[in-house]
Amino acid sequence: MTWKQIFTSSVGKKFVMALTGVSLIAFLVVHVGINACIWANDDGAMFNRAAHFMGSTVVIRIMEVGLFAGILLHIVQGIMIEMENRSKRSIGYQIPLGNRGSKWYSRSMGLLGTLILLFLIMHIYHFWTPSRLGGIGNIHELGMTTIDGKEYDNLFGEMIKVFQSPVVVLLYVLACISLAYHLLHGFASAFRTLGLHNQRYYTIVKSIGNIFSVIVPIAFAMMPISIYLGWIK
Ligand code: HEM
Repeated sequence: MTWKQIFTSSVGKKFVMALTGVSLIAFLVVHVGINACIWANDDGAMFNRAAHFMGSTVVIRIMEVGLFAGILLHIVQGIMIEMENRSKRSIGYQIPLGNRGSKWYSRSMGLLGTLILLFLIMHIYHFWTPSRLGGIGNIHELGMTTIDGKEYDNLFGEMIKVFQSPVVVLLYVLACISLAYHLLHGFASAFRTLGLHNQRYYTIVKSIGNIFSVIVPIAFAMMPISIYLGWIK
């Protein structure tokens, strides 16, 4: 397969989706792990230290460029696959198969992906722009905090500020629900596309995928909820 075919043929596009999907799953593991430090209830010290390490380590900053490239590729290829499927389906089924053919969320990957993209735009504005770019128009400028005599960006303080709004908390929870359903199909599907055809191993990966798709979004959703309800200080 040539480079051109990887990005233009149906098989190539599915392959790119699966590869970028698996790297985004790996990113979610790191992200949820670092964010879980907020539950140390130490006024954000552990979380701010971890975030500082991620933001100041050259190798991780290079990986961040790869992460954004992966997200972009996943979106572009996803849109192309969705358009291809729609044009093939334009004749439509005589009798709609409904849930007998596939689950609703497997048929709604484009919609779920779009909801996650809308969330990401808001999310990057909330946290990434103040942390990396000093905020857009200084609307979200980060404060500083001193931990053991050393100054750190106070990303934890930013979280506390952002999650005081019930509307924002609700939008984050809805995004986590979209993420859960997106992963419920995407996790196992990615491994199948990458060549996992052995039924026994596929069943194991599917079960791991189901557990991951529930636990990780619940952990993410509990972050804004815990802050809003004052369980974290
Ligand atoms: C719901 C709870 C979440 C919280 C509290 C949260 C918090 C944060 C924070 C504080 C940052 C900035 C990190 C830094 O600049 O060092 C960040 C970055 C980011 N988050 Fe989240 N996040 C959450 C969920 C998610 C979800 C569900 C996704 C993906 C679907 C996601 C994707 C990203 C991305 C792509 C970045 C930029 C990556 C980077 O910093 O290099 N986040 N998040």
